[in-house]
Amino acid sequence: MEPRMVIAPDSAHLAQAGAQLFCRAAEDSVRLRGRFTVALSGGTTPREMHRLLGQRPAAGLDFWHRTHVFWADERLVPATDPASNYGAAREDFIANVSIPPGQVHPMPVHLPPPACAEQYHRELARVFRPSGNRYPVFDLILLGLGTDGHTASLFPSPGRRPDKGRWVMAVKGGCPEVFRLTLSYSLINRARQIVFLVSGAGKVDVVGAVLDRKQRRLPAAKIRPLNGRIIWLLDKAAAAGLPVGMREQADRPPAAADWIRETP
Ligand code: 6PG
Repeated sequence: MEPRMVIAPDSAHLAQAGAQLFCRAAEDSVRLRGRFTVALSGGTTPREMHRLLGQRPAAGLDFWHRTHVFWADERLVPATDPASNYGAAREDFIANVSIPPGQVHPMPVHLPPPACAEQYHRELARVFRPSGNRYPVFDLILLGLGTDGHTASLFPSPGRRPDKGRWVMAVKGGCPEVFRLTLSYSLINRARQIVFLVSGAGKVDVVGAVLDRKQRRLPAAKIRPLNGRIIWLLDKAAAAGLPVGMREQADRPPAAADWIRETP
């Protein structure tokens, strides 16, 4: 399925569009499958979207009781560390919505990295219960894009490290350069829906490299869902380097529905 591109006028509208996509995916998943499974990314881009999710009316929607939140990657630091993706999401919205505590699944950070990866694999298996050698299938995975083309904590490497069937990998890299856990390409690419959230002029070059010049060695370019759909949600600044035709074909975000706070 061809990636869909949505270009928002600015970062505030990008956050609103992201929150709207999140809530729509959640409502559809609960209606169709009785629950909503989502994996979040870290970094700065998703934080405004997360804060919108933690405010009424989004925070009061019914799907939260049936939601399971996981992470696409995490830095192996305590939740109180400013670098913690879980800590940031808990502050931005998880503490303000009615997700049952047992349905919030932070990545373990207090064991040696390989043991953390193994423990998260077991947590995914417990919740998703995939049959045979199948992978967990998320309803939604939210991803960011680093200026080097990384996504989650899948960093550029000389030869693509085969996932070897792994769901979760322990790596070291990124900024801050610390040990991390990341979902694997194989697992991410089995999601029903993947949404990249990319904002700011600093991402112009890497957006062009991935979406226009199709530099397939970049980790983000290897995110190609097997059966699901992929949406690139960009703001105008991040999309500025794309060919005019590509920008003109992109969708505009829907007008913010009445349940998302209009930015002043
Ligand atoms: C992480 C993120 C990472 C992030 C990109 C973009 O834990 O570091 O998951 O993949 O999405 O680095 O980060 P910004 O949104 O801060 O540019």
